[in-house]
Amino acid sequence: MGSTSETVCVTGASGFIGSWLVMRLLERGYTVRATVRDPTNVKKVEHLLELPGAKTHLSLWKADLADEGSFDKAITGCTGVFHVATPMDFESQDPENEVIKPTINGLLGIMKSCLKAKTVRRLVFTSSAGTVNVSEKQKPVYDENNWSDLEFCRTVKMTGWMYFVSKTLAEQEAWKFAKENNMDFISIIPVLVVGPFLGSSMPPSLITALSPLTGNEGHYSIIKQGQFVHLDDLCNSHIFLYEHPAAEGRYICSSRDATIHDIAKLLREKYPEYNIPTKFKNIPDHLDIVSFSSKKLTDLGFQYKYSFEDMFTGAVDACRDKGLLPKPAEIPVDNGGTQK
Ligand SMILES: NC(=O)c1ccc[n+]([C@@H]2O[C@H](COP(=O)([O-])OP(=O)(O)OC[C@H]3O[C@@H](n4cnc5c(N)ncnc54)[C@H](OP(=O)(O)O)[C@@H]3O)[C@@H](O)[C@H]2O)c1
Repeated sequence: MGSTSETVCVTGASGFIGSWLVMRLLERGYTVRATVRDPTNVKKVEHLLELPGAKTHLSLWKADLADEGSFDKAITGCTGVFHVATPMDFESQDPENEVIKPTINGLLGIMKSCLKAKTVRRLVFTSSAGTVNVSEKQKPVYDENNWSDLEFCRTVKMTGWMYFVSKTLAEQEAWKFAKENNMDFISIIPVLVVGPFLGSSMPPSLITALSPLTGNEGHYSIIKQGQFVHLDDLCNSHIFLYEHPAAEGRYICSSRDATIHDIAKLLREKYPEYNIPTKFKNIPDHLDIVSFSSKKLTDLGFQYKYSFEDMFTGAVDACRDKGLLPKPAEIPVDNGGTQK
């Protein structure tokens, strides 16, 4: 355990990133107030309550991004807030009201809660690569100065478009609000996050990252020319930036650029039993790398610990252990080498 005696709030604490972040914060000695929409939903919170240190240093608080003021109580008295929660429903029938509005108003509501509390030193927002490079043509390299093209998202309506729009508008509104109110606000821009996880259901990002293995074609375009980071590196970067006195502005957190073919090759070598294909529907055989520069974060002193292989073996092994992917003995033999 670390030695800090600070109390911090983590929103979306039951999720893929939130729960791992809570674990790392507890390990460093923080007292954590974890917000979830339904603290009585055992399936969603038991992995939090079982964490080392949870009995003495963790409490659960009910709050919903769609319910203004519902974060006030959890945030009052905290020195830091990690706003991780976001609606992730790519299949929503009412994206404006179910995804876009709660993401924007939820973030602004949390900023107001921080101001009211008067105790919050810094608010760390988990943004998304979807705020940076969703546009018709891909550039070879992206950095923190780039923003996604929202007109393109709303016109093309690619898989996840409402999520890209929601995160971009929310972060842009937040920067305005932070300047107007002189708030210490930092945004972290994770690329696709991959690795082992604590919860019991399939994390949304692994549905995308493991799509070459599962054959979920709708997600191929997201990882066609992708960028990746290990979940533990990402959570450590949140704590690093929260604690670093000189941190300011946006920070890309990305340790590896790769195409869908690189992922498929790695998975084929590590897990030949899944018969992962070498060709993907509507995806060219040759693809250029699109890079996200994490120079700003590494120049501040942050170091990545995990490899590309660590990300994917960690994810597949965790999914197998939790019964979310078949184990080798459960996979039907397929002599055609085609994907299920
Ligand atoms: N995973 C990635 O690859 C990736 C990449 C870039 C950015 N991010 C960002 O990282 C954050 C966490 O993502 P994740 O991958 O951990 O997803 P996740 O597992 O789906 O977690 C999201 C959490 O948000 C909470 N949530 C959803 N709607 C809410 C609402 N209306 N009010 C309050 N809470 C709500 C959910 O909590 P309950 O259902 O328990 O209440 C859920 O635990 C998001 O902000 C996302 O944009 C993720």
